Amino acid sequence: MNQDAFLTAVNVEYTFDDGPLHVLTDVNLSIPAGSFVAFLGPSGVGKSTLLRLLAGLLRPSAGQIELDGVPIHNARAPIGLVFQKDNLMPWRTAYENVRLPLELRRVNGREADGRVRDMLNLVGLQGFEQSYPAQLSGGMAQRVALARALVHRPSLLLLDEPFGSLDALTRERMGQELLRIWQAMPVTVAMVTHSINEAVLLADVVMVMGGRPATIAETIPINLMRPRSLEMQGEPVFQACTRQIRAAIQDSDSR
Ligand SMILES: Nc1ncnc2c1ncn2[C@@H]1O[C@H](COP(=O)(O)OP(=O)(O)O)[C@@H](O)[C@H]1O
Ligand SMILES: [Mg+2]
Repeated sequence: MNQDAFLTAVNVEYTFDDGPLHVLTDVNLSIPAGSFVAFLGPSGVGKSTLLRLLAGLLRPSAGQIELDGVPIHNARAPIGLVFQKDNLMPWRTAYENVRLPLELRRVNGREADGRVRDMLNLVGLQGFEQSYPAQLSGGMAQRVALARALVHRPSLLLLDEPFGSLDALTRERMGQELLRIWQAMPVTVAMVTHSINEAVLLADVVMVMGGRPATIAETIPINLMRPRSLEMQGEPVFQACTRQIRAAIQDSDSR
């Protein structure tokens, strides 16, 4: 296995017992620490299932998933999760929502307050600490969700179509914000998206999923310079990447 592999999956299979439905087969991947990986694939292919396996929320039917050399279900390192729906608690303010994971870990008092403030500042929510979720726009609510996922300093951040319910412009801005946050923190990111552009703009590597049961059909490195900007979408390298991904999706579809 790759020496600097941080998150690995080896020969992973997954079957939902009711059915039964064999969703994933022969999934092998190796994600280096600090990198940003995007998963792409058609709806229903098994992206969310894979992410839940990588989070240790589901157990593989066969094969192994390890985080820093430890089986994922024993891993001590905290993992941050963000889903398409923000899942914020409506009766808690932005501040109180972000503080919740610390309360659950019995981090309290000044230490907790300091961390929550730092995180709200990092995601650009200063001034909205006392707002309730219903008073926030979709983009701001997702910033709270991101701050909540990062406040316990996870080494791994898993994102399942986090910007999927935002309008196109907000989505673009949130992508850039996510890059800024990722660069400010030592965190490995695995993100599910259905936007080819978003995947290429953000990720170091794009993994295209396809087939039934699904596997990782192709792993495509994105050799675009960092920092990334929206203007790069006009560059030949960018367009070559999106073409390659589109072809990989078509290939894996017709398999
Ligand atoms: N809890 C579940 N029980 C049974 N089948 C499920 C469950 N969750 C998802 N599935 C099925 O597994 C397949 C993959 O789903 P999912 O991972 O959500 O796909 P994606 O995120 O790529 O859209 C789909 O056919 C879906 O219907
Ligand atoms: Mg999904």
